[in-house]
Amino acid sequence: MNIINLENVDTIYEGADLPTIRNINLDIERGEFVCVMGPNGAGKTTLLETINGLLEHTQGRVSVFGKTIKQDGTEARKRIGYLLQNFSFDPGEPFLVKDVVMMGRVGRIGLLNTPDEKDWEIVRKALDSVGVREFENRPIGKLSGGEQQKVLLARVLAQEPDILLLDEPLTNLDLKAKEELQELIEKIYEEKHLTVVMVTHDVSSIPKVSSRLVLMNGGEIVLDGKPKQVIESGVWRSSYGLSLEG
Ligand SMILES: Nc1ncnc2c1ncn2[C@@H]1O[C@H](COP(=O)(O)OP(=O)(O)O)[C@@H](O)[C@H]1O
Ligand SMILES: [Mg+2]
Repeated sequence: MNIINLENVDTIYEGADLPTIRNINLDIERGEFVCVMGPNGAGKTTLLETINGLLEHTQGRVSVFGKTIKQDGTEARKRIGYLLQNFSFDPGEPFLVKDVVMMGRVGRIGLLNTPDEKDWEIVRKALDSVGVREFENRPIGKLSGGEQQKVLLARVLAQEPDILLLDEPLTNLDLKAKEELQELIEKIYEEKHLTVVMVTHDVSSIPKVSSRLVLMNGGEIVLDGKPKQVIESGVWRSSYGLSLEG
């Protein structure tokens, strides 16, 4: 059984005339690491939000964990860690790092219950696994962009998800932070046996562990195959407005 399944899916934003993503057919098996690549505006973020049901699709069928997302979205989202694109905290943001990571557990604990020692242990482990435990008592706003991104990754790990949806996690980081985070994502994927869908618009940030590359352009999937094949086909160049030779 596929862990994620989209059949002939369209998603139209409220007020828009045309679907932003169109006729999407996508089957993802448990344990796959899928990269979704495409230029800005291709519909990558819309695809992730359609998968986790934060956006309602207007045509077709989306199921995750074998259940339709329209009916069982709330339960499914507890098991889907979603790292938002371009999210960063205001420098004055007073939340402590450990509390930001604990927010990842809210779906598991329930809004009205308080975290217990087991929850704090999971939070500490998540902080350890991304290497930011030393910052646990600092306000999140005082961390660098790369450090904040690691904390946000710890937050989705604290959720103990089965699926990770990562929306351009490496964008806006300096080269060193980019490499560190990329390695971290690969390590987490291998250790925790997760299913990962990672969006990128940059051909150079496709992780080695990625088994599949889905190329999007203009709201459609234009190619879906092994990363090497998709890259070597050169088709991605024209979607980026680059010449085929360049
Ligand atoms: N909330 C929204 N309402 C209407 N249109 C939107 C909204 N969010 C994104 N879009 C449009 O949908 C298209 C695809 O956006 P997006 O999925 O964010 O692309 P990508 O992540 O590939 O850059 C863009 O043309 C964008 O302007
Ligand atoms: Mg996007």
